[in-house]
Amino acid sequence: MDLKDRRNKHLGNADKFFYQEPLHIVKGEDVWLESSSGERYLDVYNNVAHIGHSNPIVVEAIAAQAATLNTNTRYIHENIIELAEEITATFNNELEICYFCCSGSEANDLALQIARAHTGQNGCLVTENAYHGNTTAVFQMSPEDCPPEKKEEWIGLVGGPKKYLPTKKNIYLKALKPQKKLKIMGRHQQPL
Ligand SMILES: Cc1ncc(COP(=O)(O)O)c(C=O)c1O
Repeated sequence: MDLKDRRNKHLGNADKFFYQEPLHIVKGEDVWLESSSGERYLDVYNNVAHIGHSNPIVVEAIAAQAATLNTNTRYIHENIIELAEEITATFNNELEICYFCCSGSEANDLALQIARAHTGQNGCLVTENAYHGNTTAVFQMSPEDCPPEKKEEWIGLVGGPKKYLPTKKNIYLKALKPQKKLKIMGRHQQPL
C-alpha cells in the first residue's frame, strides 16, 4: 500500500489532501518546505508556523519545556503568567486577559462561548466560504465544509470580501449592511 492508502486506512478520508497529487513533505526550514524527493517549496500558505518552520528558538523552548513539565494550568506556574503579562503589555488597557488554546478550532469555539455568555444571545454571522475548524459548533459555522442543509438557524451568512474578483454583483457591499440580516434572523426568532 502506498502512503495515501495507508493514511486513508488508518486516519480516515474525511480530511482532504492539498493537491490532486498530494505532496510528501518531510522537512520545514524557515520559509521553505522540503519534499521526500528533495524539492524545496516556498511556503506562502502554511498558517501554523508563524515565525518560520523549525525556528531554532521555538524548537529549543519546546524541547526544554517537554523535558521539564507538561501539565495543565490548574496548577500555578510563573511561565504562563509571564507570557500573558508580556502579551497584554502590547495591547491597550482594555485587553488584559489571555485564554491560551491548543488549536484554532478551540479558540473559535471558546470565542463563541464567550460571546454567548456575554450577550445572553445565541446567533452569529459568518462569511461565505469561511472555515472555523472542527468542533461541533464551529463546524456548523463553516460554510466551506458544512453542507447548507446542515446549517443551523442560529447561523447567518454574509458575503465575504471579494473586491479582487471581477464579479458583476459585489456581495461584499451587501455584507456591509448587517442590519438586514439581523431582521431576517429576528423573524426566525433567533436573536443575535
Ligand atoms: C481560518 C482558520 N480557522 C480555524 C482553523 C482551525 O484550526 P485548527 O486546525 O488548529 O483547529 C484553521 C485551520 O486551518 C483555519 O485556517
